[in-house]
Amino acid sequence: MEIIHVSAECYPVAKVGGLADVVGALPKYQNKLGHIAKVVVPAYDTKFIRENDFEVTYDAWANYGNNHYQFRVLKEKTNKLGFDLYVVHIQGLTDRPNVYGYGDDTERFIAFQIAVLDWIVQWEHRPDVIHCHDHHTGLIPFMVTNSVKYAAISGVPTVLTIHNAQYQGQFGWDKLYYLPAFDLWKSGLLEWDKDINPLASAIKCAWRVTTVSPSYLEEMMNNARGLESLLRQERHKCVGILNGIDTEVWNPETDPMLGKSYNIKTVEAGKLANKTALCNVFQLDPSKPLFTFIGRLVDEKGADLLPDIFYTALQQHGDHINVLVLGSGDNWVEGRLNQLKDIFGGKYNVYIGYNEQVSHEMYAGADFLLMPSRVEPCGLNQLYALRYGTVPIVRRIGGLKDTVVDIGDGGFGVCHDQTSIWDVTHAINRSIELYNDKKKFKAVRKTMMKIDHSWDRAALNYTELYQILK
Ligand code: ADP
Ligand code: GLC
Repeated sequence: MEIIHVSAECYPVAKVGGLADVVGALPKYQNKLGHIAKVVVPAYDTKFIRENDFEVTYDAWANYGNNHYQFRVLKEKTNKLGFDLYVVHIQGLTDRPNVYGYGDDTERFIAFQIAVLDWIVQWEHRPDVIHCHDHHTGLIPFMVTNSVKYAAISGVPTVLTIHNAQYQGQFGWDKLYYLPAFDLWKSGLLEWDKDINPLASAIKCAWRVTTVSPSYLEEMMNNARGLESLLRQERHKCVGILNGIDTEVWNPETDPMLGKSYNIKTVEAGKLANKTALCNVFQLDPSKPLFTFIGRLVDEKGADLLPDIFYTALQQHGDHINVLVLGSGDNWVEGRLNQLKDIFGGKYNVYIGYNEQVSHEMYAGADFLLMPSRVEPCGLNQLYALRYGTVPIVRRIGGLKDTVVDIGDGGFGVCHDQTSIWDVTHAINRSIELYNDKKKFKAVRKTMMKIDHSWDRAALNYTELYQILK
């Protein structure tokens, strides 16, 4: 089957979070199954796009509201990612350093989606599936079935994967004229709660909807930022498919970003070497357990509680633990996390910013990784932690619930029920006990590292889903 993934992110082309990791890996595994999986993303001004060779495969003009703009679809020449990568360049709209965060993001992503469909509609053949990811590509299912100019591809199945229903991309009806012409009586398919809502529209119009873990699908029926009733109505076409990880990128045995590589047999020495190096850089003590957090500093990750959680834990156990944080996001949280450095120097440190290299070093060097998320559709950090022998401390929610089993239940992680200071500090206490039981700690590490979370299984699940649509 030929599958074209349309997304705002794709690792290593442009990454903000887990969406990039998924879109950068799933197609590779689909190709291994014999499919032809392709990816198309906007041509941002990123290092990958600047430093790799692309050739123009399509050059055209498109209408976008009252604007007539030129766009280009470029293909990466060497297939180095394991799939055909296409980037859509729209001058002045896509060619910026960041993926999101501009005042005209709505216009940017509408233009991108129109360009993608203008390109696909003139292919000599039809793809078997157009697979859209999150709200940035959520108008595609509607446009494919309803826009007059895309009538030739109106029979092509569309699939939506919801990576995070917290973000829906709503905008006002004053921007309706940006969309290519359709019968206005169909406007209801775009609408949710009085706005044009790309995510809601995709839930209505896509042939199938997937979410990135079975538990998150169930949770969304009661907690999806206003989309609950819609999801309940469309439940029959939804399925939860747990994400995998790219075991070629995330492999402590071959990871070029690590000072010392290791595998399940050499995990103790390997992790100690990486921990020592990391602690030297961040002025921490490698003889103590290292607790870490990596991620976007936003409420859904429980980041607003992190300063108090670490303050409390360091007050209680300051001479016996280290804490290291990597993340960026909310300014208030960033500020408070920085302040803790003055109080707990030598036991605590934080790197505010995005740094892929440091994240790999942390998965390898840490003993524990915290994820006190309020919402976690899947979560990839805990899967990377497992593969690198780092014990995840997670809230029982979404994908975390589906992938981490508590040590009290014969498992390999530390789980808690609520995103609260008390629950997390209690989990930290339990983790310290585990760390001090050296025999058990070593056994847990080995159990974790044996778990197979590669994309092989999930890629098959997607194949089964696409086949229903044929
Ligand atoms: P989300 O997509 O909601 O942010 P995930 O757990 O699915 O959460 O994926 C997060 C991805 O982003 C992981 O690959 C993680 O290592 C990475 N990441 C998050 N914040 C940072 C950061 N500050 N520096 C480097 N990598 C980060
Ligand atoms: C989203 C979710 C995260 C998930 C990722 C990849 O960003 O917040 O839980 O792992 O998408 O699907």
